[in-house]
Amino acid sequence: MTIPPLTTNQDLDPRLLRAAFGVFPTGVVAVAARVDGRIWGLAASSFTSVSLDPPLVSFSIAATSKTWPDLRRASRLGLSVLADHHGAVCRQLAGDPEKRFDGLALTATAEGAVTLDDGLARFDCSIHREVEAGDHVIVLLRLHAVDHPSDDPDTSGPLVFHRSGFSRLAEPS
Ligand SMILES: Cc1cc2nc3c(=O)[nH]c(=O)nc-3n(C[C@H](O)[C@H](O)[C@H](O)COP(=O)(O)O)c2cc1C
Repeated sequence: MTIPPLTTNQDLDPRLLRAAFGVFPTGVVAVAARVDGRIWGLAASSFTSVSLDPPLVSFSIAATSKTWPDLRRASRLGLSVLADHHGAVCRQLAGDPEKRFDGLALTATAEGAVTLDDGLARFDCSIHREVEAGDHVIVLLRLHAVDHPSDDPDTSGPLVFHRSGFSRLAEPS
């Protein structure tokens, strides 16, 4: 089979790009904080580890986000890596802002970082830098505390977001 060369000057319309980006599997995190007595947050699949020294991670937030202007006011943000049983939780975290945290077991630090008690890993962080990037803002976060469970084989695997749907990792053979 001959693979055709990549054509130049393509119309990179958002639908085409969304489908192409969706081929790349990611995990999903909950980003959350308490600000003015209310919890703000959302689900984000754009989470990436960035640097060990200093400890930095990032995620990208849509420039149109209605939540980010309030969430970014928090002195600390909580990040929770979602587990493979969190599919419905993930949809909830991306849905009606008034109900995103309904029924979830959460812990908040004194400085406002909010994490899911059953997150696979939990991070306490503050905003290091925000970089405008097209229709998103890349948010670099400085880590202050980390918690993750042992390598117990009974621990759940991560929620995997792929082609607009949720999957899980295959059992190791
Ligand atoms: C699996 C999944 C991953 C998502 N990842 C991101 C993301 O990385 N960045 C982002 O801005 N929104 C992401 N969203 C959408 C947000 O969770 C949320 O729905 C969106 O920000 C709209 O709400 P808002 O206006 O309150 O911010 C994702 C949604 C889902 C279901």
